[in-house]
Amino acid sequence: MDFLELAAKRESCRNYADTPVDKNKLNLCLEAARLAPSACNSQPWTMILALTPEKVGQAAKAAQELGMNRFIGKAPAIAMVVEEKTNISSKFGGALKDQQYAQTDIGLAVAHFCLEATQLGLSTCIIGWFNEAQLKKDFDIPESKRVRLLIAVGYAADSSLREKKRRPVDEIARFV
Ligand SMILES: Cc1cc2nc3c(=O)[nH]c(=O)nc-3n(C[C@H](O)[C@H](O)[C@H](O)COP(=O)(O)O)c2cc1C
Repeated sequence: MDFLELAAKRESCRNYADTPVDKNKLNLCLEAARLAPSACNSQPWTMILALTPEKVGQAAKAAQELGMNRFIGKAPAIAMVVEEKTNISSKFGGALKDQQYAQTDIGLAVAHFCLEATQLGLSTCIIGWFNEAQLKKDFDIPESKRVRLLIAVGYAADSSLREKKRRPVDEIARFV
């Protein structure tokens, strides 16, 4: 698939089929994430992948706080992205330049993950609304760390694509 076709095909899936996700496919998504760039090659993240009904259920519950993200209860797999320590160059560079490189790095890795998933015929939804304390408790994540994003992964129950609503190019960029 041409890259623009792939980027257009990736959309947030909020209706999953009952089909389970093959672990080999998740490993390919992880490989794509692993190849993502990061500031000073710091790679400041790890992922926990819930694949058993019990663990997926726990992760889903944490994302459903206050009635949000109800659809995630049907996702057969959920990845949790934990921010890890940056290397010293990224830490000092970020401090000197007042930038949060780790979160940028995580965004890039998650984008790679989701695009590879799309390439493999899977569907994803990036989730930023979740009960972080609950996840830390259920998945033995140290209190000092931050869970930055979840990714619901599965097969879309409905394969039709929505129209993308995006700002026009002349609003988002300028050539100088
Ligand atoms: C950082 C981040 C957090 C998000 N959190 C949620 C969420 O908690 N629940 C949800 O349904 N979608 C969530 N989304 C998906 C966005 O709503 C979605 O990407 C956006 O509306 C564009 O639609 P598309 O992904 O279908 O192209 C999140 C996306 C990002 C990048």
